[in-house]
Amino acid sequence: MVELAVTVGGLSLANPVMPASGTFAEGLERVIDFDRLGAFVTKTVTRELRIGNPTPRVAETQAGLLNAIGIPSKGVPYFLHDTLPFYRKFAPPLVASISAPTVEGFASLAAEISVPGVAAIEANISCPNLEEDGKAFAMVASSTEAAVRRMREATKLPLWAKLTPNTGDIAEIARAAEAAGADALVVANAILGMAIDIESWRPQLGNITGGLTGPCIKPVILRQVWQCARAVKIPIIGCGGIASAGDAVEYLLAGASAVQVGTATFIHPTAMPTIIDGLTRYCERHNLERITDLVGALNVEEVDQEDVAWVGAA
Ligand SMILES: Cc1cc2nc3c(=O)[nH]c(=O)nc-3n(C[C@H](O)[C@H](O)[C@H](O)COP(=O)(O)O)c2cc1C
Repeated sequence: MVELAVTVGGLSLANPVMPASGTFAEGLERVIDFDRLGAFVTKTVTRELRIGNPTPRVAETQAGLLNAIGIPSKGVPYFLHDTLPFYRKFAPPLVASISAPTVEGFASLAAEISVPGVAAIEANISCPNLEEDGKAFAMVASSTEAAVRRMREATKLPLWAKLTPNTGDIAEIARAAEAAGADALVVANAILGMAIDIESWRPQLGNITGGLTGPCIKPVILRQVWQCARAVKIPIIGCGGIASAGDAVEYLLAGASAVQVGTATFIHPTAMPTIIDGLTRYCERHNLERITDLVGALNVEEVDQEDVAWVGAA
């Protein structure tokens, strides 16, 4: 028997596999056994009602998906009265993803959503900070620190900070989130991109730019998980292009304690249970008694970081 249980950011999970925010919904219950998942992560909830971005909202690329959904949200009352009761009937803990345009907005939403049935809060700080220059909170260490610190004061629930990959030094952002009291980091959200229709000369997305997700982003996010794992002591949840048990193993080896699966579920709705089964088989094949033996076990000679920087620049 392989032990798949992990503890991550204040939660005990039966296994390390959970959905990525916004790529999972209640209707999937008809296709997979929800009780098999490590946790649930909701679509990002905002205080205000939001209709989202103009269409088209998604465009396929060679090895991934571009989306500019724009976080349509039915608001907090819908979350409390409809979303929450639905998940109560299942065993895995529910992680509520939240977002706001200001530091105080994040803090008051974190407080409001800290109700029985919510096991942890995932702060999607990849959204614009309207009090500063409109850059995403997680692009700037000081905005990250301010938002996480106020949320930390506003809730006793485990607090996960979901970082954006669209920043120059993600390790610095990770350290800021840890210093401000985050219990775990989710690394990461989508990579900014765009696609153009060469017949109409128009952008393929109504929003012009969007977030790139799926297999093509895995090497980039894997590298960021590795960098964050070296920078902080709090656990990391890897998220980016995971479509197989092998992908999940790579993330665990790089230092993630758990993983989130997003775009892969659109292609194979049963991707998550398949990955969970594959992790058990992988551990059996490698004579591992527990999945946690993989976390951060990357076999690497210490390299001079200045050399790494130069190789990256070549
Ligand atoms: C259609 C779509 C909607 C998404 N909505 C959200 C969201 O509401 N909140 C959030 O934090 N991330 C959202 N994401 C980002 C995913 O949670 C995840 O970070 C990203 O897709 C990378 O993982 P993947 O390559 O496995 O898809 C969304 C992604 C997609 C494709």
